[in-house]
Amino acid sequence: MAEPTTIVRTARSRWRRVALIAGGVLVALFIVLQGVALALPRTNPPVVAEPNWDSPQTRELFMRACGDCHSNQTNWRWYTYVAPAAFLAYRDVTEGRQKCNVSEWGVGGERKCDESVEQIQEGKMPPWFYLPLHPEANLSAQEKQQLIQGLIATFGEGGEGGERRNRQAAPEQENGEEEGSTSMTVAFRGS
Ligand code: HEC
Repeated sequence: MAEPTTIVRTARSRWRRVALIAGGVLVALFIVLQGVALALPRTNPPVVAEPNWDSPQTRELFMRACGDCHSNQTNWRWYTYVAPAAFLAYRDVTEGRQKCNVSEWGVGGERKCDESVEQIQEGKMPPWFYLPLHPEANLSAQEKQQLIQGLIATFGEGGEGGERRNRQAAPEQENGEEEGSTSMTVAFRGS
């Protein structure tokens, strides 16, 4: 028969062992993930061609709020080298460039850029989780309006995407609808 104090001591040392093992597993896991994170290709391919920006200001606003994920001029900050943030950043930049890349204009990068105004108006872009670490991307209402006006002027009013959406939403008006006005973009918010 063990003394009560011995029982308590044994139980305590068992927990300590479990905690040590769990901690060790976590550290090992982090080291493995961190190794993978460091191996990610954080590339900035050459800038092939940019849109014909309507003004330097539009470009400046776009690069400030969107450029990290929608251009080949990503600022890979220190935390994009640290797991798990590295994986999120890598995925965002990869997917963002696939959807719209202003550094590969006319060679496929323009793909969905014409939906930018809609994305901004709906508050989907830039993504909310990006803003706390990038306060400069948190545009004021006035800057947002300037960017929207600039993007309409640069990417064309409504653009291909606008016409496409228009056709899906109202096929019978295909010919009657005036092409790509700003109000059209607004009218199809939330579709
Ligand atoms: C943190 C990275 C990041 C930033 C910053 C960012 N985007 Fe995106 N963007 C993405 C990702 C990832 C996707 C693809 C997934 C999705 O649609 O949510 C995307 C998708 C898009 C799309 C395509 C939407 C569709 O219909 O598929 C447009 C247009 C867009 N972004 C415009 C913008 C604009 C304009 C800004 C700046 C105001 C911006 N983005 C800022 C990551 C970003």
